[in-house]
Amino acid sequence: MNLKKIEINVCEYSFSELDNDLQQLIATAKDNTKKSYSPYSKFAVGAALLLENGQIISGSNQENAAYPSGLCAERTAVFYANAMYPSVAPKALAIAAFYNGSFVEEPISPCGSCRQVLLETETRYKTNIQILLYGENRIYLIPSVKQLLPLAFNEQNLKKE
Ligand code: THU
Repeated sequence: MNLKKIEINVCEYSFSELDNDLQQLIATAKDNTKKSYSPYSKFAVGAALLLENGQIISGSNQENAAYPSGLCAERTAVFYANAMYPSVAPKALAIAAFYNGSFVEEPISPCGSCRQVLLETETRYKTNIQILLYGENRIYLIPSVKQLLPLAFNEQNLKKE
C-alpha cells in the first residue's frame, strides 16, 4: 500500500487585505444574494464572476418546487457567461450567502456539481479561476478550481488509451 496525501492551498484574508478588484467582486456577490429565488431553502446565494475583459457576470440560486430542477448561484453565473461570451475566459468567482437575516459567518464552498462545472470551465479556457468564498468572519481565496476538486473526472478520462 502506498498512501498518497493530497493537500490543497487555501488563503485566508480579511476584507481589508484584499485588493480593490476582489473587494468589488465580493460586494457584487453579496448584492446578488438579493436576486436569489430561494423560497424553499431561504438560503440566498449570490455569485459574481469576473471575466478577463473586466466584465462581471451575476448569478444567484434559482430554486424550483421540483427541488432538483433548481440551480446553484455558481452554475447560473458560469453557464450564463459561457453561453453569452464563449470566447471570454473567466478569471475569478466570488460567492456569498445570506441566511436568517445576515450574511453567513463562515465561508460557504461550492457543491460538488458546481466544482465539476467550474473545473470544466478552467480546462476549456486553459486558465485558473480564483475562487473567493465570503464569510463575515473570514474570506477564503483558493487559487484554482483544481484545488477544490482533486482526483477529478476530466476530459482525459474519455480519451481512448
Ligand atoms: N446553493 C448554492 O447556490 N451554492 C452553493 O454553493 C451551495 C448551495 C444553493 C442551492 C439551494 O438553492 C440552496 O443553496 C440550499 O442548498
